[in-house]
Amino acid sequence: MIYDVEVHGYRSLLSAKISLKPGLNVLVGANGSGKTNLINFFDFLTALLTDGVPSAFERAGGAAHAFSMESMRDEEPTLQFTIRGTPQLGVTGVFRGAEEPRVPYTSYEYDCTIKYNKALRVVFVARERVSLLGSGVVPFVVTRETVVSHSDQAASRVDFQTQDVDLYRYLGRIIYPKDDRAAGERLAASVSPHWPLLAHLEHEHQIFAAVSLSLVSLASINVRPEAARRSTSISDLSMLRDDGAGLVSVLYRLKRGQYYPVNRRRFTTSIPQNNQRAIFKSILNWVSEVNPDITDIETSPNNDDATLSADVLMNLDGQQRKFAFRKISDGTVKWLALVTALFAAPAYGAIEEPENFLDPRMQEIFVKLVRDRLISADRVFLVSTHSESLLNLCTPDELLVFRFDRFGTTARRPNNQAELRAVLKSSRFGLGHYYRVGAVDA
Ligand SMILES: Nc1ncnc2c1ncn2[C@@H]1O[C@H](COP(=O)(O)OP(=O)(O)O)[C@@H](O)[C@H]1O
Ligand SMILES: [Mg+2]
Repeated sequence: MIYDVEVHGYRSLLSAKISLKPGLNVLVGANGSGKTNLINFFDFLTALLTDGVPSAFERAGGAAHAFSMESMRDEEPTLQFTIRGTPQLGVTGVFRGAEEPRVPYTSYEYDCTIKYNKALRVVFVARERVSLLGSGVVPFVVTRETVVSHSDQAASRVDFQTQDVDLYRYLGRIIYPKDDRAAGERLAASVSPHWPLLAHLEHEHQIFAAVSLSLVSLASINVRPEAARRSTSISDLSMLRDDGAGLVSVLYRLKRGQYYPVNRRRFTTSIPQNNQRAIFKSILNWVSEVNPDITDIETSPNNDDATLSADVLMNLDGQQRKFAFRKISDGTVKWLALVTALFAAPAYGAIEEPENFLDPRMQEIFVKLVRDRLISADRVFLVSTHSESLLNLCTPDELLVFRFDRFGTTARRPNNQAELRAVLKSSRFGLGHYYRVGAVDA
């Protein structure tokens, strides 16, 4: 999980330091205070590690939108961020080595600087540092520096600072079997200025894969009902997409214990078969919590056109009825996709203004779900909201209050948490009320 983030130079995040906690983190603040920018930042980070620099900026609407306006005025606009967290273990996949050294690292710090060289018209990763940390062990630190000279030439340096001879040798040997001294040099020669070094390292050893999976854990989901309802091709083995596409395929495979999602990484968090069926059941339970008429979801292959489709079974006045996915309501489909996104790894970690499709009773179930599901799993979930009824369900420590001034966006936990807790206990009003009347001091 990610527990700490510092961003300098992404949109309105000029110098933002934000601490996250397991479970719900509720982003509140006036329009324009930067809630969306923080959520977008984590989508940018996910795209950066998955698809590289050009795609990440493309998805963010171009360099002029992603770099802060302040930074864009500089000769060399710069975006720098530091993220601290715990590696997401339980990763399996195709790593090049057979025998991997055991690693004692329990947390990490990832630091990255992206620059826009206006003279050469190139946006590139200029500096990177991955530090693996553990109690009582010397950190394993990999640094990367890249300098560009003319538009298609870049020179990089990669250095290792470590006493972990096993892991270093492992990286050296595995990457370049004939020369186990020169892991740094050879990595430097192969890393592209348009890619984070971490995206290379994640294929070499589980520990870097685990860091990378932690870093992409806060990508946001924004379900479009028409995408989520669509029949999928039998050949589609992808994870659930951020617009809900692929939902039918994910449910089909979970139900059969055949869910091995393929993404651009060659590894994923593996889910044992039995757990997959349990996950399907949990999804169904949380769906029938919202709509008690729903008794099952049937998915069926159609070999003639190589597609999968899904039906929802409902018990209406004692009669079993079947409804094709394309006929069920927007609200139900969105809820189903959201629940699936929370349960089926690789998961999503953020959603904007869910009050747009969750009525107050569903909001209650949503908050319960996120707390139940995520706090025990040490996972973070970000929710931005303007809804008083949603806030009424939250506790003071879950709030992150956003503000925007000439120093950019800041986000703070309330200062008067103890006071708020006391007043909430003795009154019939919820936190949303106190937030609206300005009683939350942050
Ligand atoms: N590239 C940028 N540089 C600086 N500020 C930006 C940039 N892009 C957007 N902003 C500012 O960010 C704010 C919008 O933040 P946003 O995250 O959409 O707010 P919220 O979601 O809290 O309503 C606006 O005030 C806008 O001026
Ligand atoms: Mg917003």
